[in-house]
Amino acid sequence: MNRLSGHTNLFASLTSYLQSLQESGLDGIPLEMMKPMQFETEAQPAIFMKTGVSDGMNENISLPGKSESLEHIRKDLGDCQRCKLGTTRKNLVFGVGNPKARLLFVGEGPGADEDAQGLPFVGDAGKMLNRIITAMNLERDEVYICNVVKCRPPQNRPPESDEVALCSPFLLRQISSVKPEVIVALGTSAAQALLQTKTPISKLRSKFHNFHGTPLMPTYHPSYLLRTGGNSDSFWSVWDDMTQVLQLLKLPVPVKTRKR
Ligand code: URA
Repeated sequence: MNRLSGHTNLFASLTSYLQSLQESGLDGIPLEMMKPMQFETEAQPAIFMKTGVSDGMNENISLPGKSESLEHIRKDLGDCQRCKLGTTRKNLVFGVGNPKARLLFVGEGPGADEDAQGLPFVGDAGKMLNRIITAMNLERDEVYICNVVKCRPPQNRPPESDEVALCSPFLLRQISSVKPEVIVALGTSAAQALLQTKTPISKLRSKFHNFHGTPLMPTYHPSYLLRTGGNSDSFWSVWDDMTQVLQLLKLPVPVKTRKR
């Protein structure tokens, strides 16, 4: 690719990205400098959407600086039909919890129970997430819980990249509104979408990544724990990750011993 066509592609990518942000209700992007922070991570800050340019181009785009309420963001979503998931969902699943939570969990997308109730993590995976939250000595309503996509993908398939790209500006705004001190990305879809990487969750987990200046801990999805068992190695890996989260939040770490 020559220099000129590279610039043209970059311009087209940025134009389409800005248009999608505008459609989702954003009226500006503050080009703040990232806060210098130390993270043990190879992942670059993410802007959620493939721009066709190297990750390094994303460094100056940060979370929306203006403070807006979650209600305002929900109102902007309206009866969302921005992507094809809008045609098959029963209920849009926005998010739930403390609007000023110190800790924010991001899952993949609603399943059947969530679609029926319009609430995230209320089915079996939700019960496992509740178990994790309780084990951390926290209450479900003191954290914030949302998903990468707000509508159920048919047959619970992983969300596709166009669906993630169209829904992500709203997730970005939710995170920006809540301003959590730590984000936990539950599973492959959430971790890969937020960190704009294809690295497997097994390699991403167990260390903090820099998400626009906020520490982000990827960990296994609760559904994966359901498949591997509540006392499995993966369950204890999640507990190790949550231990790091509690330490960063300067909260007491409950002592847990594995039953053999
Ligand atoms: N799995 C998810 O990723 N999110 C939900 O809300 C429910 C199940």
